[in-house]
Amino acid sequence: MAKLEILEFPDPRLRKVAAPVTCVDDDIRTIIDNMFETMYDAPGIGLAAIQVGVPKRVLVIDLQPEDEEAEGEVCNHGGHEHVHYPTVKEPRVFINPEILDPAEELASYQEGCLSVPDIFADVDRPATCRVRYQDLEGETHEEDLEGLMATCIQHEMDHLEGILFIDHLSRLKRNMALKKLKKLREAA
Ligand code: NI
Repeated sequence: MAKLEILEFPDPRLRKVAAPVTCVDDDIRTIIDNMFETMYDAPGIGLAAIQVGVPKRVLVIDLQPEDEEAEGEVCNHGGHEHVHYPTVKEPRVFINPEILDPAEELASYQEGCLSVPDIFADVDRPATCRVRYQDLEGETHEEDLEGLMATCIQHEMDHLEGILFIDHLSRLKRNMALKKLKKLREAA
């Protein structure tokens, strides 16, 4: 496995429309392994192949949920007592994904993106959707998604069309986000 370089805004490669995967072979599986390593290291919960410079329709996602069955650690930073649970890995691969039946109802989540580091903003997207995709063996599946998973896959699908989450913001909010990004980069 190898960690890959993550392209960052405004790299023009992030604006490319990714091409379908015609054959799910070992080359693609190696890219996917490397994408997971890159995503976990960043760390992030989703990554599209184009973000590591591979213009193919491949996404990896791991929401890394907290395991509430496990023993938690009681913590009181922030002034109130709460419990942190260890996270579990739930790696998901979506090859040639398509969104079907997006809900009319919208949900808003604060989004971020490894290609637009340290910038977060609320984005409205269909609250639920169905996804059709191929797995690591090239088998086709369909699945209904909701909550963070529905949002995450729509964010990652946008990458395949050359769209970034900041493109969904009002001009004012987008300009504010880009100004902040510029400032953070100058400070770094
Ligand atoms: Ni992203």
